[in-house]
Amino acid sequence: MGRLAGKVAIITGASGGIGSATAAKMLAEGARLMLAGRDQSRLDSVVAQLGGGDSVDSCVGNPAEEADVMALVAATKSRFGQVDVLFANAGAEGAIAPLTSISVEDFDQVQQVNVRGTWLAIKHTAPAMIDAGGGSIICTSSVAGSVGVAGLAAYAASKHAINGLVHVAALEFGKLGVRVNSVAPAPIDNAMMDSIEKQASPDDPSLARQGFSALIAMGRYGTNEEVANIVAFLASDEAKYCTGGIYPVDGGFLAA
Ligand SMILES: NC(=O)c1ccc[n+]([C@@H]2O[C@H](COP(=O)([O-])OP(=O)(O)OC[C@H]3O[C@@H](n4cnc5c(N)ncnc54)[C@H](OP(=O)(O)O)[C@@H]3O)[C@@H](O)[C@H]2O)c1
Repeated sequence: MGRLAGKVAIITGASGGIGSATAAKMLAEGARLMLAGRDQSRLDSVVAQLGGGDSVDSCVGNPAEEADVMALVAATKSRFGQVDVLFANAGAEGAIAPLTSISVEDFDQVQQVNVRGTWLAIKHTAPAMIDAGGGSIICTSSVAGSVGVAGLAAYAASKHAINGLVHVAALEFGKLGVRVNSVAPAPIDNAMMDSIEKQASPDDPSLARQGFSALIAMGRYGTNEEVANIVAFLASDEAKYCTGGIYPVDGGFLAA
């Protein structure tokens, strides 16, 4: 029996690299899944790839809109009867630019998705978990939630804010059975880093990749699956004494 047997998990940003890999891992561990994203066709292809049958469903919506988040939680309860795990993972990198060049619109968009979206997901899943006696919330932060990365002001500010939300939520829900943690990946080999590399070094994105890799003790990007493994652990009862933690999945990036 898998570590997540009997549990129902909501995953936001489920059609992206880390989200879809975590869906596969959680399904393999026995969870039933509600996958959330903004585009039904992208969600449909993840559902098809997973081949999860009755254990997987999807719900389209914007993670930054409260009505959509409420509808996501309601759809999960209606479909599966409960919510035990939230992986609040949807996130945008925004423009890669010097702090003085970022527009108000770009800055606000990153905060809306990353900060407001994470807060709304916690706000509307925690009560269902508390009513049921407990649950586990995992947010996707970043190494940029603990240190600065030049060119990523809006993103780094948002990921620092997510760690703040995790700390507050862990305190507020600690005696109510709901654990709240975040994972903090270093660069992961997927579409988001492709976008960051192209923005940072338009003529030769491989130069940006070399630069980022040089910041990582292990000298390479991580994989979506390497993040998914830690998320599944935090979702499971094996992590039952873990709350309020920021868990690096970073090949030693933060050791520097
Ligand atoms: N890749 C990395 O190197 C890295 C490192 C550290 C942390 N992270 C974090 O990991 C999380 C997942 O990203 P990923 O690496 O899997 O990248 P990804 O493949 O680009 O996926 C990002 C996901 O977030 C959603 N998203 C992106 N922009 C959005 C917006 N403006 N509004 C609403 N939803 C949006 C997308 O959902 P839709 O299907 O709705 O588009 C997508 O599923 C993010 O929070 C990211 O910040 C990534």
